[in-house]
Amino acid sequence: MQKNIADILPVAGVVPVLVIEHQKDALPLAGALLEGGLRVLEVTLRTAAALEAVERIAGHLPEVQIGTGTVLNGDDLRRSVDSGASFVVSPGVTERLLVAAQDCDVPLLPGAASVSEVMRLFEHGYRYQKFFPAQAAGGVPMLKSIAGPLADVRFCPTGGISPDNAADYLALDNVVCVGGSWMAPSALVREKNWAEITRLAKQAAVLRT
Ligand code: 3PG
Repeated sequence: MQKNIADILPVAGVVPVLVIEHQKDALPLAGALLEGGLRVLEVTLRTAAALEAVERIAGHLPEVQIGTGTVLNGDDLRRSVDSGASFVVSPGVTERLLVAAQDCDVPLLPGAASVSEVMRLFEHGYRYQKFFPAQAAGGVPMLKSIAGPLADVRFCPTGGISPDNAADYLALDNVVCVGGSWMAPSALVREKNWAEITRLAKQAAVLRT
């Protein structure tokens, strides 16, 4: 369910969404983002190195709240918990994922892209939801339109967010934080350009005023 998510997301502002190909990049990358002022990070389960990367960050950087993303089923959820994730993020939900999350102490931030999906998750007790894919699913106008009828839900829009539009999302009352990959693009990680990643993180960290 969502125990503790209300403590994690509001302090995040911007959540870097990370694709980590090599375990050895995990600590310098997380350290670079932390130095830039971002301390809530999501590692997507899209690489073989992802879970080990989460374990390293959870074990060595206690200031970081580390979560997993691209959680698609109960196995992903359990492996995330075993790796020390503080929260898990899914792009959407299935019945089986919701059942698995019910008995899990680590909070789930479930994805929704439509009014009915948001309503269904809210009915299941999910006040905090990932709005995904944010830009493709209607972006800022969509979130403004549903703020009235679905006034109690708070979103973390992710997907297509950039330095150009992040502030517009963060200005909305129903947005608690935004997620995105722009602070740690693969090319910079491959080059181990931690200084540039810290610079981008610093820019992102001040977007929420
Ligand atoms: C993803 O699917 O990787 C995340 O939603 C991030 O999307 P972005 O690369 O558009 O920021």
